[in-house]
Amino acid sequence: MDHPLERYALPPVRSPHEWSVYHAIRRDAIFSALLPGQAYDEHDPDEFQHRHLPHVLVRDGEIIGTVRIDLVGETQAGLRLIAIRRDLQRQGHGSVLLRLAEHAARVLGRTEIVINAHPTSLSFYLANGYREGNGAMPGRCRQRLFGWEIFTNLRL
Ligand SMILES: CC(C)(COP(=O)(O)OP(=O)(O)OC[C@H]1O[C@@H](n2cnc3c(N)ncnc32)[C@H](O)[C@@H]1OP(=O)(O)O)[C@@H](O)C(=O)NCCC(=O)NCCS
Repeated sequence: MDHPLERYALPPVRSPHEWSVYHAIRRDAIFSALLPGQAYDEHDPDEFQHRHLPHVLVRDGEIIGTVRIDLVGETQAGLRLIAIRRDLQRQGHGSVLLRLAEHAARVLGRTEIVINAHPTSLSFYLANGYREGNGAMPGRCRQRLFGWEIFTNLRL
């Protein structure tokens, strides 16, 4: 599906409305769908670290996806809990989100993206040029839950 990039934006989460939709999409698309039994904590201190940057994918003014861009070490960006609203999946929006997040990472001076991928999303990342990594990404319980580390080098 062809998605003109100018219809999309990937701003950092700022307003109460953006926070509310950010949490709702993550809770529904990731925790309910993929991690049943695992509670979602909106107040997780990990969300508020200064090197962790929550973003939303906006299309035609509507929030339809989420990603947290983490600054990892000096050169990497970790993309955490990428999610597209459940009713809008498999329409190309996730691929647009990845492109915009990669651009944001480049602007932040990063040269490599690392992701701890849930096994069900592996095909999505492989289809978007990512490859299996070496397990070096720092993380807490989500790394154990998600299992696969994948990465891509950013062409500058
Ligand atoms: C994974 C996710 C972000 C992908 O976003 P999306 O908008 O659905 O994906 P796209 O439409 O851009 O998919 C692009 C390509 O990736 C592959 N792909 C995407 N989702 C896939 C799936 N569930 N199974 C197999 N291949 C998949 C396909 O090749 C697809 O192209 P196609 O639809 O023409 O076959 C989204 O489905 C989602 O939020 N899933 C639930 C949460 C999740 O798994 N997040 C990732 C955690 S690490």
